[in-house]
Amino acid sequence: LKNEEREAFTAAIDQGTTSSRFLIFDGSGTPQASHQVEFGQLYPHSGWIEHDPYEILNSVNECIEKATRKFLDKGYEVGDIKALGITNQRETTVVWDTETGKPLYNAIVWPDTRTAKLVHELRKKTGSEKLRRLCGLPLSTYPSSVKLMWMLRHVPAVQSALRNDRLSFGTVDTWLLYNLTGGVKNGLHVTDPTNASRTMFCNIDTLEYDDFLIDWFGVRGVKLPKIVPSSDPDAYGNISDGVLAGTKITGCLGDQSAALVGQCAFTPGMAKNTYGTGCFLLYNTGYEPVISENGLLTTVAYAFKGFKPVYALEGSIAVAGSAIKFLRDNLGLIKESSEVGELAAKVPDTGGVVFVTAFSGLFAPYWIDDAQGTIFGITQYTTKEHIARATIEATCYQAKAILAAMEKDSGTALHALAVDGGMSNSDVCMQLQADIMGIDVDRPQMRETTALGAAIAAGFAVNLWKEFDELKGINRDNRKTFSPMTDEGTREKWFSLWSKAVERSRGWVD
Ligand code: G3P
Repeated sequence: LKNEEREAFTAAIDQGTTSSRFLIFDGSGTPQASHQVEFGQLYPHSGWIEHDPYEILNSVNECIEKATRKFLDKGYEVGDIKALGITNQRETTVVWDTETGKPLYNAIVWPDTRTAKLVHELRKKTGSEKLRRLCGLPLSTYPSSVKLMWMLRHVPAVQSALRNDRLSFGTVDTWLLYNLTGGVKNGLHVTDPTNASRTMFCNIDTLEYDDFLIDWFGVRGVKLPKIVPSSDPDAYGNISDGVLAGTKITGCLGDQSAALVGQCAFTPGMAKNTYGTGCFLLYNTGYEPVISENGLLTTVAYAFKGFKPVYALEGSIAVAGSAIKFLRDNLGLIKESSEVGELAAKVPDTGGVVFVTAFSGLFAPYWIDDAQGTIFGITQYTTKEHIARATIEATCYQAKAILAAMEKDSGTALHALAVDGGMSNSDVCMQLQADIMGIDVDRPQMRETTALGAAIAAGFAVNLWKEFDELKGINRDNRKTFSPMTDEGTREKWFSLWSKAVERSRGWVD
């Protein structure tokens, strides 16, 4: 085929909390090749979660290599991939030596709670009351700011790099972009506004670094990545090595923003809920950042070059898929995560069990740092089926609490929720979610929406699409709707039991 007759493809790196993926999409948003690799979670102490930055990078390179081979085996060419986007776990903090390009510490992963005492101390510091208005995030163990501060206080190599003006900081997008574009040779040090808005260093109105925030967190002198648009033809450079050497990187979005884009939730009032390691409900609020009065975060939804930035209200749940993994790896109740729905469906209810899966405290809308994972209501009647069901319900109840907070903040009620991510594969889980929330749950057939969002951002930059309207048909076929089969009274009774359990899960150990 002549060049102009060949089909255009977009590709996406999806670097998540427990695995990395690489997908190549055709013009209709259907993946034509993909590869996924799980990588190691390091738990050096209770509440600490780390990743080896090189393992993250290697897993991504392996995915690129293997998925591209599958793509080439189908008869396509590397040149058919017109643009590549990156999407990533957010907040996870990486630091490296500017001169050598080598990491100075393991990445501190977003649900890590080692900063709980630091956060407690910072809450008393003058100026803490201004933070949420400036950057959209409440002070908690979750954002990058406190993770970097912890490293600066505790890691000698990080302290000495700062003294010698060699301390580079990045979230995972930045670490990947730096290495994929040449690393220490001439790698770019950049990030996009959706990732920058999770650090607490970025002003939510200007989308630039804020002097007050930089000084307040004591990170002046740290080399922060340049903030460039989430979709941009020139800002991200090209892949420097490997099978895709020369391919242009033109998009970058934090994974939850990418899922919103992948669900084509471009209109204010549209929302999506992604069940990954954690679970994140994002609600498009349009061109204005809405500062929450009800425990939600204000975040950048997407900021494409040539378009006004779009904001979202976010409800973040720290533990969702990780609780299912806990049932599998720590308790041995299931062999595969995908079995959880089937196990839960063997019982009609939890038999009175409520599991507050507060392994990292509780995030939105509660923000209880000292909540501990607690199972209530166990009797000799309790079986593993009840525990499995209560584990799923924990995420669903938190999503309901977030939905209520969103309705208060936005003044509008949501009638349907688009879902994606691991737990959404289970019909049982999604029916439970509809039953608990009392609204329709709408699931696409192709659930790699996070990767699709990054591919869309990349494709926009090279004019594969020029207007958001052109994407309306993408990934719309064969969606499935789960409608609530409960009445309001039952839902309220269940939810008040959950709320009671949340209160009682507050720190019983210092
Ligand atoms: O904020 C953390 C989030 O970006 C991680 O997403 O899908 O890995 O749970 P996920």
